[in-house]
Amino acid sequence: MANDRLDMVIFGATGHTGKYVVKNAIHMCKDQKMKFGIAGRRKEALDAVVKEFVSDIADVSVILADVKDEESLKKMTERAKILVNCCGPYRFYGEPVIKTCIATCTHYVDITAEEQFMIEMELKYNEAAKEAGIYIVSACGLDCILSELGVIFTQQKFEGEMNAIEIYMSMWLSAIDKIGPICNYGTWITFVYNLAHAKELPALRKKLYPIKLPEFVPKLKSRSVLHRSDVSEGWSSPFPSIDRSVALRTQRFLYEKYKERPAQVQFYVTLKYFFEFLMMATIGMFILVLSRTASGRNLLLRYPTLFSLGIISSNLEMLKPTYFSVTFNASGWTEKLAEPTDKHTDPPNKKVITKMSSDSPGYELTSIAVILSAITILNETDKMPDNGGVLTPGAAFGKTSLIEKLIKHNIKFEVISSTEK
Ligand SMILES: NC(=O)c1ccc[n+]([C@@H]2O[C@H](COP(=O)([O-])OP(=O)(O)OC[C@H]3O[C@@H](n4cnc5c(N)ncnc54)[C@H](OP(=O)(O)O)[C@@H]3O)[C@@H](O)[C@H]2O)c1
Repeated sequence: MANDRLDMVIFGATGHTGKYVVKNAIHMCKDQKMKFGIAGRRKEALDAVVKEFVSDIADVSVILADVKDEESLKKMTERAKILVNCCGPYRFYGEPVIKTCIATCTHYVDITAEEQFMIEMELKYNEAAKEAGIYIVSACGLDCILSELGVIFTQQKFEGEMNAIEIYMSMWLSAIDKIGPICNYGTWITFVYNLAHAKELPALRKKLYPIKLPEFVPKLKSRSVLHRSDVSEGWSSPFPSIDRSVALRTQRFLYEKYKERPAQVQFYVTLKYFFEFLMMATIGMFILVLSRTASGRNLLLRYPTLFSLGIISSNLEMLKPTYFSVTFNASGWTEKLAEPTDKHTDPPNKKVITKMSSDSPGYELTSIAVILSAITILNETDKMPDNGGVLTPGAAFGKTSLIEKLIKHNIKFEVISSTEK
């Protein structure tokens, strides 16, 4: 990789999330003495971003690139050591960017929460990325890196052998800001298409992992549809989140690469009030049915505010305070056996509860997490596995100092309790 490249280029800098990334990259890159550029397809919009966020124009390079123009992508990626890709939905815009990053030996991070895209990219480009010696790490935003690193943090603190982990995610607006939009239209489009294609996921997962993992016991069963948990305030329900699938892929990676016992994972979402669940379940079913047909999807995409009950807006203001926490309820044994497949003869005798939390707005968290991921790849490749590849965040960053970096940026990771029988 040529040394005269910019350290980081933020592609999609004119988007809602892209602007947060630019805003935070200014001081975070300065702290690291790193140079960054911004890229997108519209010159005037990029200039407006510079005007809004950058006080000294010499601090940032502006690059024109369009996903539909391969040559422009190449000119962009060969100017960067790492590309921070904020252009989504990734199922439509992601692949040409990854392909070009590999061709120009440029590391890559993004903020997708599209499992299908992630699996397809691993199937298609893992070997090529390894050969090029570059890291392609998706899902470095609120979804999924924070829960991913929460699982890793819990495993590090467990001191013994973890068998299972339950993830409880809560997120709410502060009281003064309870009503109103919190999510941008870009996320809505992505969500609608994720639902529309969800049926294809089992076959894709099978293609990625044709061989099943050995069975680990005792088996972690899913809790009931609606329950109150000792570890999370409010009402909780199993949730088909990408966080669980990505965490399971990371566990599998750790088992295959480092012979670590893979933890079984369940994921729940927690809401404060019962009626919020009723509302979420009813609307969720309705949206799911609509997302399965082209005319239903058109309706959802045309009237986002109506169908999301006001949560989605294409005119979202920049900062909206939210409280975000993920609690991890882990169980296992105090003793670690020699081989990951060795069977414990006694029932689990250890429980560790940990928590990751932040009161930064969701988009702020996403931008901090993706920038820190990029900085970690640039500074700590010696602590990352292999010589590159398409990796989940936990697999890529599990042995780096990314958790400590997040803690320094006010994202709290703590052990709530550790008990032994
Ligand atoms: N994982 C998470 O927690 C998380 C959090 C936030 C967002 N996201 C994901 O991030 C993605 C972006 O979300 P957003 O709300 O920021 O969306 P957005 O505001 O619509 O931004 C999309 C960006 O993509 C650019 N773009 C679209 N087509 C392009 C093309 N052909 N060539 C070059 N650039 C193109 C847009 O450029 P123009 O300005 O020129 O249109 C814009 O900069 C979504 O997939 C969303 O789901 C994930």
